[in-house]
Amino acid sequence: MPQVLPSLLSADFARLADEMARCAAAGATALHIDVMDAHFVPNLTLGPPIISALRKATSLQLDVHLMMSDPMRYAEDFRKAGSDAITIHVEAVGQRRMDDAITRLRALGCQVGLAFNPDTDPRLWWKWFDRVDLVMFMTVYPGFGGQAFIPEVRDYVRATRARFPRLPIQVDGGINRETIPQIVADGADRLVCGNAFFLDRDPAGFLRWAEAVR
Ligand code: DX5
Ligand code: ZN
Repeated sequence: MPQVLPSLLSADFARLADEMARCAAAGATALHIDVMDAHFVPNLTLGPPIISALRKATSLQLDVHLMMSDPMRYAEDFRKAGSDAITIHVEAVGQRRMDDAITRLRALGCQVGLAFNPDTDPRLWWKWFDRVDLVMFMTVYPGFGGQAFIPEVRDYVRATRARFPRLPIQVDGGINRETIPQIVADGADRLVCGNAFFLDRDPAGFLRWAEAVR
């Protein structure tokens, strides 16, 4: 059964507490939070102080997506700020430092995720998949909300689902009423939705619909 994670990047940043309450009222149990460092991606968002403030204002799970060139330098700060899940990009860490990064993230006691840009072949990273709680395929090039879904990533989702039947597979970017049936059929079960959730006239209805897709 798929789970929708509203992405706060599409929320009104002047009213984040209200927006989080709106997510909870719509039936969400987790929120996706995009951290961008203006280096790994060409955009800049927020850091640990804002996560701490959000943590005090909601009991929803905080799923934190680190689009950062040096995520391990800040991972502990993000955990202390109240992140429940921390997802790092494999491109930022590289294969040589991956064992160490996963060991250190596991020691923080949160859920651990690995994210993949649309042109990164996950098969080269499969040997680490049994050490993490989720993998996340970017279905757009990260950096901005409201972009168009890249259909080529569907092959990676299908291949990963075939090889790892029980691993949570999250998808992020251009996930909406049109793309959800396809990507769920491919095997994704965690759906990050920015614009599709926040711009819907009936976000609760959208969430109910999306979580019933099989
Ligand atoms: C983009 C972010 C996404 C973004 C998705 O780099 O990682 O989480 O909020 O937004 P939509 O769903 O509008 O494509
Ligand atoms: Zn994201």
